[in-house]
Amino acid sequence: MKPIQVGLLGIGTVGSGTFQVLQRNQQEIERRAGRGIAITMVADLNTERARELVASLGGDGVRVVADAREVIANPDIDIVVELIGGYGIAKALVMEAIAAGKHVVTANKALLAVHGTEIFEAAQKRGVMVAFEAAVAGGIPIIKALREGLSANRIQWVAGIINGTTNFILSEMRDKGLDFDVVLKEAQRLGYAEADPTFDIEGVDAAHKATLMSAIAFGIPVQFDKAYVEGITKLAGADIRYAEQLGYRIKLLGIAKRAKGGIELRVHPSLIPAKRLIANVEGAMNAVVVQGDAVGTTLYYGKGAGSEPTASAVIADLVDVTRLHTADPHHRVPHLAFQPGSLSNLPVLPMSEVVTSYYLRLRVADEAGVLAQVTGLLAQSGISIDAVLQREAEEGTRQTDLIILTHDTREGTMNDALAQIQALPAVLAPVVRIRKEELN
Ligand code: HSE
Repeated sequence: MKPIQVGLLGIGTVGSGTFQVLQRNQQEIERRAGRGIAITMVADLNTERARELVASLGGDGVRVVADAREVIANPDIDIVVELIGGYGIAKALVMEAIAAGKHVVTANKALLAVHGTEIFEAAQKRGVMVAFEAAVAGGIPIIKALREGLSANRIQWVAGIINGTTNFILSEMRDKGLDFDVVLKEAQRLGYAEADPTFDIEGVDAAHKATLMSAIAFGIPVQFDKAYVEGITKLAGADIRYAEQLGYRIKLLGIAKRAKGGIELRVHPSLIPAKRLIANVEGAMNAVVVQGDAVGTTLYYGKGAGSEPTASAVIADLVDVTRLHTADPHHRVPHLAFQPGSLSNLPVLPMSEVVTSYYLRLRVADEAGVLAQVTGLLAQSGISIDAVLQREAEEGTRQTDLIILTHDTREGTMNDALAQIQALPAVLAPVVRIRKEELN
């Protein structure tokens, strides 16, 4: 049988990795897919660089064009791989490819988290597949695991370190005792963080990925606009050290959780017990923990970015699409794991309704009765304390840090209690609040 024909839109880091791995492992891949998979067209605005790259990768006979629409219009192309990124032109091209009856493979988490509903509906109508394993946690096959491997389960929660840049920064802050700004600069110098790192450090990239996981874990539409997003820019080295003394590590977690009355969908720094495996995921690595009612806890670990790790996910999608290319569209795995007519309308809960425990750090006047005032206000709000740590007053000052760990409480209740605590004259600086997840 002649190979299935693939057109690449964009040949950057992931595109060239895809080219390279497909070439290197072509026989192994063909034995799996049942036919060859050949990239026959590449579209890239920088055609000169793309031609050089394709030639250096041994891509004889591959057509390189500047206009992505030439790839979409080519009747010989069966699968379009979108590696442009962003919501702009990438969205138009994906919609056009679907309309032209092409299957789409994409690594574009931003596009799917924001416009997924429209894209999946269009694909469903046209009878084509949109595969997106590379969009979440790079090389880790977490989409496959959630959508197929765990399909017996009622999934309770998914929690992941799904942004390598921020995990690298947090690991460095902890290892070297440095503050965020210093480590960010170092991460940019080493190429771990982009020149404009906003999406990573503000938690947006992780929220895109958590949104996609929430949809396939619970069978709800993709709703990035409902996600709570908080990054790591305000984390102080002091909190990482205090957390450590209390037996916790701080990680940026993407969390999707089944709760009373809805789904929690949130990204924020979280204390997690140092003894959990996921707490020991360091550097730019990713990991996702999934809790299902039948299987219990499962953990997935690997490289969340990079040329060949991400290509590994792109090619796995190409193999899937190739195998199912001729199958009746109704017999394929649904895009969001659940049949399109069986999606749930469980709401994504507002952050005020989320229930979790907390780490609080208060800079207070070291005077009699201050601890009692603070714990009194927590008690009045029905917030139960798990642990308290008080440092000796700093030399030459009459100020100290008071660290409090709480048991589970509603975020709205905590907000009200914190407003009252903040108003105490003995509380000398904005209270630091970091959520805590036991992940058990
Ligand atoms: N910028 C992402 C990260 C990789 O740092 O993990 C692509 O999503």
